[in-house]
Amino acid sequence: MSPLDPIAGSDAGGADAPGGSRAAGASVRKPRAGDLFELTIERFDARGLGLARAAGYRFRVQRAAVGSRVSAKVLRRRRDEIEAVALAVLDPGPQAAQPACAHFRACGGCAFQDLDQASQLAGKQRLVEDALAARGLLAEAVVEAIVPAPAPWRYRNKMEFTFSNRRWVAPEEPQGAEATFALGLHALGLYQKVVDVRACPIQSEEADRVLDAARAIALQRGLSPWDVRAHAGLLRHLVVRRARSGALLVNLVTSREEPAAVAAFAAELLRRVPEITTIVQTVNARAATTAIGDSEHVLHGPGTISEELAGLAFTISAGSFFQTNTAAAERLFAAVREEAALSKERVAWDLFCGTGTIALVLARDAREVVGFELVASAVRDARANAARNGIENARFVEGDVLASLSATQGLAAPDVLVVDPPRAGLHPKVPAALGRLAARRLIYVSCNPAAAGADCAALSGAGWRIRRVRPFDQFPHTPHVEAVITLERGA
Ligand SMILES: C[S@@+](CC[C@H](N)C(=O)[O-])C[C@H]1O[C@@H](n2cnc3c(N)ncnc32)[C@H](O)[C@@H]1O
Repeated sequence: MSPLDPIAGSDAGGADAPGGSRAAGASVRKPRAGDLFELTIERFDARGLGLARAAGYRFRVQRAAVGSRVSAKVLRRRRDEIEAVALAVLDPGPQAAQPACAHFRACGGCAFQDLDQASQLAGKQRLVEDALAARGLLAEAVVEAIVPAPAPWRYRNKMEFTFSNRRWVAPEEPQGAEATFALGLHALGLYQKVVDVRACPIQSEEADRVLDAARAIALQRGLSPWDVRAHAGLLRHLVVRRARSGALLVNLVTSREEPAAVAAFAAELLRRVPEITTIVQTVNARAATTAIGDSEHVLHGPGTISEELAGLAFTISAGSFFQTNTAAAERLFAAVREEAALSKERVAWDLFCGTGTIALVLARDAREVVGFELVASAVRDARANAARNGIENARFVEGDVLASLSATQGLAAPDVLVVDPPRAGLHPKVPAALGRLAARRLIYVSCNPAAAGADCAALSGAGWRIRRVRPFDQFPHTPHVEAVITLERGA
């Protein structure tokens, strides 16, 4: 039987044996959508898809854990690469773990609760190594052992849930099951469907109680969830943030003001979860699905919460960015601080500084720090955070990094550069602009190994060499991996 025989519908004949080559012969056709394969998953890619090889093709498989053997259906083929989805687990393999969440696999939130922690960490480490190796950079430095997140569960300080009138219906539910209300996360691969999440083990228990109460109140009061196609319905998102101090912020995102209904919702939420310290309403009348809105009303409490990170206090408002795993961010920033090795004579620039967290952590060691950030509200938060912590040697420049780098008159020249770019990495002209600065040491904080590989290759063109690579797991059960990469130039 040919391994690619569409009638056989499976390569159970052993086509995925190592070194297996594409079957030859006139009767063999290329795999097409709907064909079935048995695959052994070797590792995961940056999107969390399981990678396997069979019959000379590389497979990227949805819902397939490393080490498992699965029956998978071909979704599409592009040259020698096939996208497939696992239909059944034939053997979970030795690395399998018991998912903690009832919604795992349906929910688009976590990629691999079914993979043990050690294998998740090893896979993430490999993503960093492969990205650097692909650019010929691995010879410069070994990638150190990945630092695990301090806690694999209950680690997120913020979750954003979606209200929807299109609930994802599980295959085992009876025909015609009520599906006109959901509060949860988007279903895996089905953007318009929302899984009605009853509890989420990566957020705090208090946040679980808020989620539960919000659902009950919305249903009890008959408040309409958002319809993503018709652009109608009152309730859009529920954002819950919990600080280590216990402060609990709830941001209810609605499509319109509706003050009476929203005030009643908030009062009932407070009655059910008295630990809530502040409730905010954000009104977003636009079609785009985002928790950022046109206007904001504080319904209860101060409208902000305070978080402590690396010995500093940060004020977080409903719309501002803050690291979502506080304890893991603390470890990451401690590594940045070590690598920066500043002293009171030295100046550091923190490019892409967000709300100023890294800059403020470094300010204690430096003569001066300068943060650069595009988003005006983040710059405002950074300045307020500096003032709140009594830090006087930090200043912040608002604007695009590339433009700011060509107008640096009046700024103290940097000895150390820290760059923490968004997932896409650096603008192609930024490495050369950094190269024109005097700094010898550059610390690249990466949230995307592929972009970091490309950027480090460009930085090596400006004279920097990688000295150290320290990967960090900030988000267990997801494929995300961070890395602190230290580069130096000159003797
Ligand atoms: C990965 S975040 C950095 C977060 C920050 N280090 C922190 O810990 O809070 C990237 C930041 O870069 C900012 N950003 C994106 N493009 C930018 C640009 N062209 N110029 C300046 N800042 C930019 C984003 O607004 C975001 O705050």
